[in-house]
Amino acid sequence: MDGRLSGATVRIIMASVLDLIGNTPLVEVTRIDRGACRLFLKLESANPSGSLKDRPARTMIEAAEADGRLKSGGTIVEATAGNTGLGLALVGGRKGYRTLLVVPDKMAREKVLHAKAMGAEVVTTRSDVGKGHPDYYQDLAETIARRTPGAFFVNQFANPANPQAHETTTGPEILRQMDGDVDAIVVGVGSGGTLTGIGRFMRDASPKTAMILADPEGSVLAPYVETGRMGQAGSWAVEGIGEDFVPPNADLDLLSHAFAIPDAESFACARDLLRAEGVLAGSSSGTLLAAALRYCRAQAAPKRVVSLVCDSGAKYLSKVFNPIFLAQEGWSPSSHACARPTSRTFRSSTRAGTSSAWSTRATCWPPSSPRATIPTRPLRARSSR
Ligand SMILES: Cc1ncc(COP(=O)(O)O)c(C=O)c1O
Repeated sequence: MDGRLSGATVRIIMASVLDLIGNTPLVEVTRIDRGACRLFLKLESANPSGSLKDRPARTMIEAAEADGRLKSGGTIVEATAGNTGLGLALVGGRKGYRTLLVVPDKMAREKVLHAKAMGAEVVTTRSDVGKGHPDYYQDLAETIARRTPGAFFVNQFANPANPQAHETTTGPEILRQMDGDVDAIVVGVGSGGTLTGIGRFMRDASPKTAMILADPEGSVLAPYVETGRMGQAGSWAVEGIGEDFVPPNADLDLLSHAFAIPDAESFACARDLLRAEGVLAGSSSGTLLAAALRYCRAQAAPKRVVSLVCDSGAKYLSKVFNPIFLAQEGWSPSSHACARPTSRTFRSSTRAGTSSAWSTRATCWPPSSPRATIPTRPLRARSSR
């Protein structure tokens, strides 16, 4: 296996922490019921800033260096309170650039503190305004970039170097680690870089590999894949994935199926993953695991399925793994959505407080119908990325 350990033992001393980006390990899930399938998780949490976003952070910065959009002494500007900001702060800081992040004020405190600790400047703005308002985080970042000499506005939602990172690294790594035999890959969509990059690579290198979307309930993406119609976005607690628009970087035509996962099930899956397998993963990884398990358990024939641990659960100790937060949301810390898959007693509370048995909500949607017009600009800030 051409995995992280074999590479690391060959070259024990790295020239830079940036050389630790990528070549992440793959771990098989063995203690949670996968039906007839084998399920593997790629631990993107092993990247230096703790998420899959280190990969596009590096390619977006290096593409801008290569074509002259970012020069020595320049400033990297992005609207993000999520993992992209951490990746940019890491790569930008290591390369000697100033990094300025525009952050909506409701965003996760741990991530903001982490970015500041790496030397990033953080501008906090309102989270109660939408696209078009001058204080909306993406509009404000664009304005700051325009007014800052030597600024490079990253714009992960439309920057082609974002999916390129996954097309040239994550996709090939998965296929190599799986000895060229992968039936399905389960991903989430924030900016769309992961889906589009891995999906494009697999379309060419392994056409049998199906791309499956794991989406938080409330996001417009899974219903859009099902019906071709753009609905109204709700709200969700999972961070980093789910959208209220279709980002230009998200090629939804690559998808075969989409699952909408309630927050309570995502959080419970992240907790079960830690208890059962010892893998500390964030809330979105819980969404991906829940969707992967639904997919696996629905298969009649054995399949080889891969999903991602998108980021470390250490970023969410105060939420996913905090009984007080769970109680405030009306969720039971002792519910085991993954560990007791056949139980009909698990009930998931929506943020509005209604409940329903999760097994009745297990929707698996084929992308059958033609799509309606795609809005390509954000309607509202939804979650950090
Ligand atoms: C925390 C987190 N951020 C971002 C993403 C998605 O990344 P992208 O922006 O490539 O769609 C994921 C994907 O699953 C995620 O879990």
